Amino acid sequence: MVYSKIISTGAYVPARIVKNDELSKMVETNDEWITSRTGIKERRISSGEKTYQIAAKAAKKAIKNAGIDKEEIDMIILATITPDFFMPSTANLVQAELGLDDIPSFDVTAGCTGFIYGLQIADQFIKSKQSKTILVIGVEVLSKVIDWSDRNTCVLFGDGAGAVILKNSSQEGIICTYTGSQGDLQERLTLPAVPLKNPFLHIPNNNGRPSNISMNGKEIFQFATRIMIKSISQVLNKSNLSMDDIDYIVPHQANIRIIDYVARTLKIEREKFIINLDRFGNTSSASIPLALDEAHKKKIFYPGNRIIMVAFGGGLTWGAALLNWIM
Ligand code: ACO
Repeated sequence: MVYSKIISTGAYVPARIVKNDELSKMVETNDEWITSRTGIKERRISSGEKTYQIAAKAAKKAIKNAGIDKEEIDMIILATITPDFFMPSTANLVQAELGLDDIPSFDVTAGCTGFIYGLQIADQFIKSKQSKTILVIGVEVLSKVIDWSDRNTCVLFGDGAGAVILKNSSQEGIICTYTGSQGDLQERLTLPAVPLKNPFLHIPNNNGRPSNISMNGKEIFQFATRIMIKSISQVLNKSNLSMDDIDYIVPHQANIRIIDYVARTLKIEREKFIINLDRFGNTSSASIPLALDEAHKKKIFYPGNRIIMVAFGGGLTWGAALLNWIM
């Protein structure tokens, strides 16, 4: 049996730190409100770096940390909702930046669940023996799609990238993955692309929709708590494991109150949750690999640890992955 396992992680965030106090000079908000409602204290914001550049920096670190020849990579899967172009994909741009020839590379869009979707696809390619070494990246430059005059959303997000190298193995790394979506709830969290426009139509240019992230915070909060609990239960059931068998949870870093609610409801010790949203905010597709890399660098994980990664996002989408840490 061929399995897939994570053999390395890498991450990169822009140097520019924007603290809550700086935002309070732009919109009517304050550090106390943001911290108590979200847990976020600061976030990183791109000072001109594009999505593919941030992604490539994280990828280079993951490749270096894996100690592999970059030519071993036979596929790139990149999750993002903030690409540089519709075409080429951000994965294509990263492929060029890394100097990798002739391998398939493509983007995955599943809101903040994108990294879990990407990992699930990579796992299947490896288990079906079509690939051996896959670079999976989660990256966002959300600062370019935020309405900086909307205090409901501008305080929540940040920029960054995380990457992993997934490799074939005789050891069981990824035990199981689970994903889902519900498109009929799309309006709760949206980021419109180009509006329908051609010389044969006579409609308003932008359909009246904003081209920034817009969100119904309360509904997303309720959805997030429900679906994270469901996703964790799904991967435990599929693996015939219980919460007692799990050492760490790496959740999507959206809001500390969402994580606290999940911990309380499932009676999981808070110490089992890897949290870095206080310093990076919500980086959407990048949030899980960013947190994973940080925990790994801090040597929090030990070989044999079982870890659940769990996310929810626009779409609406959700998903989880349960894995053995056997790096
Ligand atoms: N500063 C000060 N006041 C604010 C701010 C702000 N930044 N934002 C909103 N308010 C005000 C509101 O206008 C409202 O004022 P009003 O009562 O006079 O109308 C008041 O604060 C309460 O607003 P609520 O929306 O009820 O605040 P809530 O406690 O729900 O917190 C939040 C808002 C943080 C967005 C919360 O709903 C939440 O976390 N939702 C989950 C959504 C999430 O995490 N999204 C991340 C993106 S989703 C993803 O990652 C896939």
